[in-house]
Amino acid sequence: MRRSWILALALLGSALGGAAQAPVLPAAWGDRIYPRLGQAGLDVTHYDVALRVPQPGTRTLQAEVTLSAQATRPLPLLSLDYLGPAVQGVTWNGAAVPFERAGEKLLIRRALTPGTTARVTVRLSGPAGRVPDPDLPVDLGWQALPGQGAQPGVNFSFSEPDGTRAFLPVNDHPADPATFTLRVTVPQGVTAAASGVHTRVQDTPQGRTFTFEQREAIPTYALSVHVGPLERVDRPAVQVAGKTVQVRDYFPPGIPPNIRAPYERTGEILRVLGEWFGPYPFAVYGSAVVRPALPALETATLSTMPVTSSNVRVIVHEAAHQWFGNSVPLGDWSDTWLNEGFATYAELLWVQAQGEGEAAVVQRWRDSVQSGPTRPLVARTAAELFDRSAYLRGALALHALRAEVGDGPFRTFLQTYARERAGQPTRTADLLALARRVLGPDAEGVLRAWVESPGLPPLP
Ligand code: TRP
Ligand code: ZN
Repeated sequence: MRRSWILALALLGSALGGAAQAPVLPAAWGDRIYPRLGQAGLDVTHYDVALRVPQPGTRTLQAEVTLSAQATRPLPLLSLDYLGPAVQGVTWNGAAVPFERAGEKLLIRRALTPGTTARVTVRLSGPAGRVPDPDLPVDLGWQALPGQGAQPGVNFSFSEPDGTRAFLPVNDHPADPATFTLRVTVPQGVTAAASGVHTRVQDTPQGRTFTFEQREAIPTYALSVHVGPLERVDRPAVQVAGKTVQVRDYFPPGIPPNIRAPYERTGEILRVLGEWFGPYPFAVYGSAVVRPALPALETATLSTMPVTSSNVRVIVHEAAHQWFGNSVPLGDWSDTWLNEGFATYAELLWVQAQGEGEAAVVQRWRDSVQSGPTRPLVARTAAELFDRSAYLRGALALHALRAEVGDGPFRTFLQTYARERAGQPTRTADLLALARRVLGPDAEGVLRAWVESPGLPPLP
């Protein structure tokens, strides 16, 4: 609810302050919940990010970000989501171009024609910006934890739903997922970790540069970057439904053995999930543990795991999001149940793989959903995006579908969804259409009741 207040105030503010020469912004993506994010018709295919963190633990950043920008319709200008450090310059295919910061947007007045790719480079330097979130104790985006004594500080990204724009210029909507190259330069003695495969380390006069290649498209909010005096722990690689996956975790100093222990099970967790979801969508997976009391976040290939969430259930949940949310991206923020319902359902699949019955888990979900108001699964407000209905009614909807069709067809359905929708912005209607095609109209009807009816349908 508070999110809509913020929006109303911002609109009021821009109406009151609207000087005659205020720029007319091009159409945003058209999200039902965040109508100002993204640019309609813009397709960023790749972000090449050279990021320098000269003093880990502070908000200071320097970056040179090159976007590979394409257009799906003629665009008179580029409008990126950006609330980050001061912009020092922009080039368009190598030539300097003027730019303008207009509220939450970075405007670059060059036309982009369908069928061409522009390489747009933005140089930035200064303190990261802030994106407040009504549900969190911190602002979204670039987190900074000061060091203690001689110990360097820590930084990490924490961005769902729209915090990446606090430190990088992006088309900040999950319906425009992209690949990333990250080159993170930090002082000697500090480690950098990020989404994707770690391909090299180079020492330069500026410090040490760690390079990461995220070769499959991911939503911008899922970008993981961690910097600090981190210990990297390599685990045995695992085969996940026929695909080899590297496993590694990162820990800050002083994390006790009981907090670290559950992460030893990551490979086993991926294998169990792969039996239901099919091949793991990326080349690497693991967790970066952080100290603040925050929710866990499924940052791509490197989940961000607070000490307080360091247990197997949450590791399973964030691992499942690699398929559902990171590989299969949301088409609209109102469809978060497609992320949270599936990731929550994975918790039950894990419990069953341990030889325990599912009844107790299903009972807990039901009791919890029935203890408060419920709603159709497509969210109508920002306050609904991560509520009990998204997580628990979403999971129960999948359980009802499974009860209707049986384990074999349900498994085929999950694997077809994960495979066909990888990289494709997906909405609830896409899931229903797939259910109808793969499982038939009766099964689709069961799922549709869970999606659409105001109250809770009969429980399986
Ligand atoms: N997607 C997170 C999960 O795994 C929860 C979440 C929702 C979140 N919004 C967030 C986490 C904002 C961090 C920041 O369930
Ligand atoms: Zn989740």
